[in-house]
Amino acid sequence: MKFKKSLVFIFVVAAVLVLSSGVMAQTYVVGTNASFPPFEYVEEGEIVGFDIELIKEIAKLQGFEVEVRDISFDSLIPGLASGSLDIVAAGMTITEKREEVVDFSEPYYSANQSVLVHEESDANLTVLFGNHDIGVQTGTTGDTWVRENLIQTDILTGEIRNYDSYVFVIRDLSNQNIDAAVLDKPVAETYSQNNPVQVVAEIITGEEYGIAVGEGNEELLAEINAGLEKVKNNGTMEKLIQKYFE
Ligand code: ARG
Repeated sequence: MKFKKSLVFIFVVAAVLVLSSGVMAQTYVVGTNASFPPFEYVEEGEIVGFDIELIKEIAKLQGFEVEVRDISFDSLIPGLASGSLDIVAAGMTITEKREEVVDFSEPYYSANQSVLVHEESDANLTVLFGNHDIGVQTGTTGDTWVRENLIQTDILTGEIRNYDSYVFVIRDLSNQNIDAAVLDKPVAETYSQNNPVQVVAEIITGEEYGIAVGEGNEELLAEINAGLEKVKNNGTMEKLIQKYFE
């Protein structure tokens, strides 16, 4: 009898624990811009990619849930500031300017910029000089690089064309509506696999991607860094790199 009672007690405690952990698991809203393959893109209506798997893995390891939202890239940082987003996982480069308004995790990927042109074009780096039209995604480091180095110096006398989505940059480049695009090299290379476009130059910018949270959200940042550390150490990071880049 005594044995039975303690058994019941253990079951009740276990049930309460299971239920409360289910109820208490935090859900964080993750913002991304899913036009950045292989980091984030839409496949059969679903947001997938390296960053999405990475943040889901971190969530699993640290015991929280995520809900991923696809919005324009230049709305991501304002979303963290306003509280409509908790986390940004978007191949976002850690920059000093962004550091002023959000907090970044430890870096998880390194990349440079690149110049993408039509596959039939014999252009090279000099497509960025003179009267050419260059496509960029609004608010990206590629956008800033073109403005600071080409527009403000009058090296580029054509137009800088701003887009919300890289899908439309690639479409306009494929249709030869623009002469070139400046974007992160791993993404340019991914697009060149399935579109009539080619990478003709690399611009060494030495960028590092980080996962961002709202300024001062130390608790969440610590969770993300702890998860990221585990992912780097338990072989998951290597598997993700193999899956998406090799
Ligand atoms: N790394 C560049 C930046 O931080 C481009 C990122 C674009 N990401 C995206 N998901 N569209 O500005």
